[in-house]
Amino acid sequence: MSESTQVDSGGSATPVESSSPTGKTLSNRDRFRNACRVIPTDYPPVWLMRQAGRVLPEYKALKEKYSFLELVQTPDLAAEVTLQPVRRFGFDAAIFFSDILVVPEAMGQGYHFREQGGIEMEFAISSKEDVDRLTPEEVRPHLHYADKALTLLRSELGEETALIGFAGSPWTLANFMMEGGSSKDFKAAKVLFHTDPELFDALMHKLTKGVCEYLRMQIEKGVDAIQIFDSLGGLLGSEQFEAASGKWIRRIIENLGDEVPIIVFARGMNTNWNAVLETGANIVGVDWLADLKDLVSRIPENVGIQGNLDPAILLTTPEITERETKRILTTMNHRPGHIFNLGHGVIPASKLENIECMIQTIRNS
Ligand code: CP3
Repeated sequence: MSESTQVDSGGSATPVESSSPTGKTLSNRDRFRNACRVIPTDYPPVWLMRQAGRVLPEYKALKEKYSFLELVQTPDLAAEVTLQPVRRFGFDAAIFFSDILVVPEAMGQGYHFREQGGIEMEFAISSKEDVDRLTPEEVRPHLHYADKALTLLRSELGEETALIGFAGSPWTLANFMMEGGSSKDFKAAKVLFHTDPELFDALMHKLTKGVCEYLRMQIEKGVDAIQIFDSLGGLLGSEQFEAASGKWIRRIIENLGDEVPIIVFARGMNTNWNAVLETGANIVGVDWLADLKDLVSRIPENVGIQGNLDPAILLTTPEITERETKRILTTMNHRPGHIFNLGHGVIPASKLENIECMIQTIRNS
């Protein structure tokens, strides 16, 4: 199996095509697309959650000039931030630089990024009147900036690199919307779920519609796959997951049909895999606490597995990164449908040399 991407000292990467076990040439885009369809590849494709932004000096330089929201809402800048990690590391896929909170924003609940960290929404959703005012039909017209950025990206990435679209799950969005932003302790959505199921369902119906509108637009713009972030799915007990989160994700997946593969990342669901599979996910994204050996034996062969290096490993050394990356590769043993990723987003203090080492280790596997 051949090598792929050379990273020079200036940090730019040139993807080099490599061959598959069948001798056919695979581009990075094809490697990612094949893995999504559980077709064997030469080595697992790799991308990282939160690869766009945070860790890169070139992103930090842009943040000196522009606010987070300016980056998200200006198509040229959003496209540039999306491309930065691909240029530097030659990832198999680019994830669109945006945020899950653009959907609530388009529905009438604005937000901003606190410079000291975290997200703050203009207000918190707390009553029937607040829910009634949300406007899922505004999602598409409002998110014209995402539409433009995706058009730019699809043409820049061409056949070389895959493009991943995404949205938050209705449950995860509802938590941010009801807390009014980042929180150490999400509880308002759970309280609503138990005390006023009717209003909870009304909120979820609107979010499901808004998310479907947004994802349909991304599919029309040519994304190769979609990831649904149910980052707060693990807050729910196994008895509640289906009613509070799983069934709404399943409705989204049914609504979108089979046009593109769907990755469902439900953090903290390591003991409740069946519930995630029941959403209809084509690929399940797992956090670093998941036991991959167990998963490989339990997840049906036609479903992909994405994960699951502990993000903290990228704070250590290349030696430790290589060892831990190899451990995952050995466990997965070239299982078709394995997409290499972290178990959650890149930590801002991650070392670039460790990311490079991780990618080289995968490509030499
Ligand atoms: O993966 C990528 O790089 C693509 C872009 C992306 C961002 N946010 C950009 C971002 C994606 C896919 C997201 C998803 C997202 N946003 C989630 C789900 C994934 C997860 O990690 O659980 C959530 C919960 C959010 C909401 C959000 N956005 C919060 C709570 C915060 C502030 C806290 C934090 O983590 O920094 C953000 C800000 C944010 N979104 C940044 C970026 C690059 C940081 C901005 C900065 O530091 O410059």
